[in-house]
Amino acid sequence: MKHKVLQYGKLMPSLEKQLAETFDWHRLVDETDPKAFVAARGREYVGLATAGFADAALIEALPALKVISSFGVGVDKIDLHAAAQRGIPVGNTPDVLNDCVADLALGLIIDVARGIGASERYLRAGSWPRGAYPLQRKVSGKKLGIVGLGRIGHVIAKRALAFDMDIRYHNRRPVVDTSIAHEPSLVELARWCDFLVVIVPGGAATRHLVNDAVLDALGTKGYLINVSRGSVVDEAALVRALKERRIGGAGLDVFENEPQVPAELMGLDNVVLVPHIGSATVETRGAMAQRVFDNLKSYFDTGKLISRAT
Ligand code: NAP
Ligand code: 8YV
Repeated sequence: MKHKVLQYGKLMPSLEKQLAETFDWHRLVDETDPKAFVAARGREYVGLATAGFADAALIEALPALKVISSFGVGVDKIDLHAAAQRGIPVGNTPDVLNDCVADLALGLIIDVARGIGASERYLRAGSWPRGAYPLQRKVSGKKLGIVGLGRIGHVIAKRALAFDMDIRYHNRRPVVDTSIAHEPSLVELARWCDFLVVIVPGGAATRHLVNDAVLDALGTKGYLINVSRGSVVDEAALVRALKERRIGGAGLDVFENEPQVPAELMGLDNVVLVPHIGSATVETRGAMAQRVFDNLKSYFDTGKLISRAT
């Protein structure tokens, strides 16, 4: 007998194919009334494959649920407390995406400082014959502050060393096995650095960690790069700081109300905006999809996940 697995949200076609071949699998998105389906049939499902979401109501509506396997490393939209109370392990996809998210962080640093996107728009608009593009800011040799020296933060640091950058970081606890200097105060880190890269988990504990005080400390010499979650930055404060040119600029992959992006940011050339593409390469998304499958398969075969968020 195949294990019954419910899918929440859309997943990659290759992953859905594997799930369909291996499990007794059903996509909730195919239901015209998903709530009614869960109420009527939820008790049948022992596995949940999710695009990143599982709130307490969904977990409660699946009384036989034994395991959750989520696409992505961040589990801020999964009610971990509700899962833990039922003893349900939550699988995620760490490490396989470190390279791509770190690559994007460096890409945003270079773009916002050197004006790659903005100067390309200038060229395409036919403005070059009227004059050279204004001078921008150097990246190599600058000071980098990393907020969250975890799995991805370490890879960002490795990339930054190749740019001869001086690096410090802010975590709640100092990392033991690193020569990078720990800065206990986020405001002081922002005051010190030229580029502040945010790569902590989202959720209540980090909500608006980057606020007016941090942005003011970053100041006109500093650039904010956010590749973590939109919730970590007070977006209204950031929009004000960018409009009033109180910080040098920002590179943003994530937003508080995705896929909505504040309209006020659209016309600003001191901010680079990309639509949550940190892990969005064929290679990395393929590896993440494989891990979602492997986590479920491993749990049903051995009782253990390959990578467990909690
Ligand atoms: P990780 O290995 O758990 O690292 C997170 C780091 O953040 C840890 O060093 C942790 O250290 C620090 N941290 C946590 N809470 C903090 C706080 N309140 N203040 C300061 N530092 C704090 O996680 P990861 O695998 O690197 O991933 C990080 C996050 O990146 C994910 O959770 C996800 O939200 C985001 N992400 C985004 C994309 C994208 O597409 N843009 C892709 C992948 C991941 P302490 O515990 O010592 O504080
Ligand atoms: C995912 C991410 O692509 O892993 C994470 O936490 O933010 C991204 O890698 C995204 O969650 C999927 O939509």
